[in-house]
Amino acid sequence: MIVRPRILRASGAVRELVQETRIHVSDFMVPLFIVEGTGIKEPIASMPGYYRYSLDLLVDEIREISDLGLKSVLLFVKVEDALKDNAGTEALNPNGLMQRAIRTVKDVNPELLVLTDVALDPYSSYGHDGIVENGQIINDPTVEVLAQMAVSHIKAGADWVAPSDMMDGRIGAIRLAFEEAGYTNAGIMAYSAKYASCFYGPFRDALDSAPGFGDKKTYQMNPANIREGLKEAILDMEEGADMLMVKPAISYLDVIKTLKEELLLPVSAYHVSGEYAMIKAAAERGWLNEEQAVIESMLGLKRAGADIIATYFAKDVARLIEKYKL
Ligand code: PBG
Repeated sequence: MIVRPRILRASGAVRELVQETRIHVSDFMVPLFIVEGTGIKEPIASMPGYYRYSLDLLVDEIREISDLGLKSVLLFVKVEDALKDNAGTEALNPNGLMQRAIRTVKDVNPELLVLTDVALDPYSSYGHDGIVENGQIINDPTVEVLAQMAVSHIKAGADWVAPSDMMDGRIGAIRLAFEEAGYTNAGIMAYSAKYASCFYGPFRDALDSAPGFGDKKTYQMNPANIREGLKEAILDMEEGADMLMVKPAISYLDVIKTLKEELLLPVSAYHVSGEYAMIKAAAERGWLNEEQAVIESMLGLKRAGADIIATYFAKDVARLIEKYKL
C-alpha cells in the first residue's frame, strides 16, 4: 500500500495539525430574550437551560458573556400583550423595552457588538412579521415601519440591525433610512435565506409570538428551495446588506455553502431554537452526548462556510473551547 490516509489520523497531535476547520469564541453570537419587570430570570419550557431576563438581571448576563470572551449579542424582546397592535406601534417607542435593553447592554460593556432583531412579530397583535390587512401581510407599509424601527434601534445605541421579517425591499429601505439619519456606520445583517421552518417553535414560545392565524409561508421561504435563497441574498447585497444570514442552520448547510461561494459578504448561520431543543432533549434522555453534539454541529456549520454562528449554545461553546483547548 502506498497511500495510507490513516497516517493523518494516527495521533491527537497529527489530527490537530491537519484539522481543516476550527471554532473560535469570536465566531459566536449570543441571542438574548428580554422581558419587562425586575428580578426576572424565567426558564423557557421548550428551551431547557435558556432564560428570559429582565433588564436588571440582563446586566449580570452581559458581564458573564463578556467575561467568556464573546463579542456580540442579538437582542429579542417579549412584549406585553397590552402593547401589541397591528402596526407594531410600540416598536418605535424611544423608551420601549428594546431601546432600553440596548442602552443597558452598552452601559455594561460598550465594546460588545449589539445587534437587534427587526420584525413586527413580537409587537403584532396577530403575531405576524408585518401589518395585516384583510388576512394578508402587506409588504410596503410594513417596510416603512421596519425602516423607522431600525433607525430607532441605532439611535438607542445598537451597532447593527438584523431584519428577520422577509419583506421585499426592506434592506434597501433601512439602508436609505440610515443614510438619511446620518448613521453611516450602522450595519445590517440580513436574514436573507430565512425558511418557513418548524424549528422556530420554541422561540415562539419564548416570545409568545406564534402567528395568531395562518402561517408565515407568504414571506418566509419554502424549505425545498435553494435558488430562491440565493436570489434573496443577491437582492440583499445589492440593497446594502453588510452580512447575510441563513436560518435555520443544520438542515440548510448547502444554502450556507452556496451563499459563501457566490457572494462577497460574510455569512452567518442561525442555529435556531428547535435545533437547540433537539440536542437538549436527546441529551436529557441520555441518548446523545451534549458536548460532542454541540461541537460537531458548530464544526459542521463552519465547514459549510459559516463565518459567524448565532446559537443558544454560544456560552457553552465558549466554555468548551476553553475546556478542551479547541
Ligand atoms: C422573528 C424571528 C423568529 C426567529 C428569529 N426572529 C421567529 C419567526 O420567524 O417566527 C426564530 C429564532 C429561533 O427559532 O431561534 N421574525
